[in-house]
Amino acid sequence: MKNFRDKKIIITGAGSGMGRHLAYQLAAEGAEVFITDINAQTVKETEQEIISKGGKVKSYVVDSGSEQQIYAFKEKFLIEEKQVDVLFNNAGMALGEIEFTEVKDEHLKKIIDVNMWGVIHFTRAFLPSLLLRPEANLINTSSVFGIIGVRTQVPYCTTKFAVRGFTEALRMELSDTNVTVSCVHPGGIKTNIARNGIHYKDAEKSATQFDEVAATTAEDAARIIINGVKNNREKILIGADAWLIDRIARWFPVKYSHIFKWIHQKKFKK
Ligand SMILES: NC(=O)c1ccc[n+]([C@@H]2O[C@H](COP(=O)([O-])OP(=O)(O)OC[C@H]3O[C@@H](n4cnc5c(N)ncnc54)[C@H](O)[C@@H]3O)[C@@H](O)[C@H]2O)c1
Repeated sequence: MKNFRDKKIIITGAGSGMGRHLAYQLAAEGAEVFITDINAQTVKETEQEIISKGGKVKSYVVDSGSEQQIYAFKEKFLIEEKQVDVLFNNAGMALGEIEFTEVKDEHLKKIIDVNMWGVIHFTRAFLPSLLLRPEANLINTSSVFGIIGVRTQVPYCTTKFAVRGFTEALRMELSDTNVTVSCVHPGGIKTNIARNGIHYKDAEKSATQFDEVAATTAEDAARIIINGVKNNREKILIGADAWLIDRIARWFPVKYSHIFKWIHQKKFKK
C-alpha cells in the first residue's frame, strides 16, 4: 500500500514504543488510526497527542491476551467503522531473563496468550474484513528471537517463532488475494519492553542492560516498518543487529547458538 491517506488502520499495543510511533506517523500521513492497548492511560496519551496534531484517531482498551475482548472489539469496531484496510499486530510483552525450568506456568501461559494467541485472534477477527478491501495489509510483529532461539528467553522465542510461522504460512495462503502479509523482526529497539515485562530478577538492571544494547529508536523503527509496508516487503528487519542475526542464523543454522552464547558471556559475565 503506497498511500495511507484516509485508510482505516488498527494498531495493537499503541500505548508505547513502536505501536505508539506507528500511530503518530500513520496519523501524520492522513490515516484514520484505531489504537488498542491493555493500558488505558498510555493509549489515551497516544490518542491525545495525535488529536493535538490534528490527526484522526480513536483509542480502545483491549487486552490482546483475551479472546473474548478481541472479538467484542471486532463487533463494536465493524458496526461503527464498517471496514479496515490495515492491521498491525504489534502488541507484545517479554519475560525478563529466566531459565525455562524457573518460569511459572501462569507467566508462560500469559506470554503465549498475548504474543501468540493475540496475533492469531486479531487476525481471525479482521481478516474477513481485510479480504473485502481493494488493497489491504496485515503486519505481524515477531522479533529477531523469531529467527534465533536464545537461552533465558525460551517463552518469548516460542511465541515469536510461532508468530513467524503463522505469518509465513498465511502469506502463502493469501498470496493470490488483495492482502499483503508482512512479518516484522526488530532487533534491539529502545522502548519500554524490558520495563513493561514480567521480571524474576532485578528489573532495573535488566532494563539498563537492554537499553545498552538496543540501538534503534522506536521512532526510527516505526519509519522502517511503514517504508516496508509501502514497498509491500514481506520480511521487515529492523536495525543492523537484526540484519546480522538474520545472516548468522542462515550461515550457521545450528552452530549459531554457540556463537551467541559466547557473545552473551563476553558482554554480560565479565
Ligand atoms: N523493543 C524491542 O527490542 C523489540 C524487539 C523485538 C520485538 N519486539 C516486539 O515489538 C512489539 C512492540 O514492543 P515495544 O518494543 O514497542 O514494547 P513496549 O513495551 O514499549 O510497547 C508494547 C505495548 O504493548 C502493550 N501490551 C502489552 N501487553 C498487552 C496486552 N495483553 N494487550 C494489549 N496491549 C498490550 C503494552 O502496554 C505497550 O503499550 C512487541 O510485540 C515486542 O515483542 C520488540
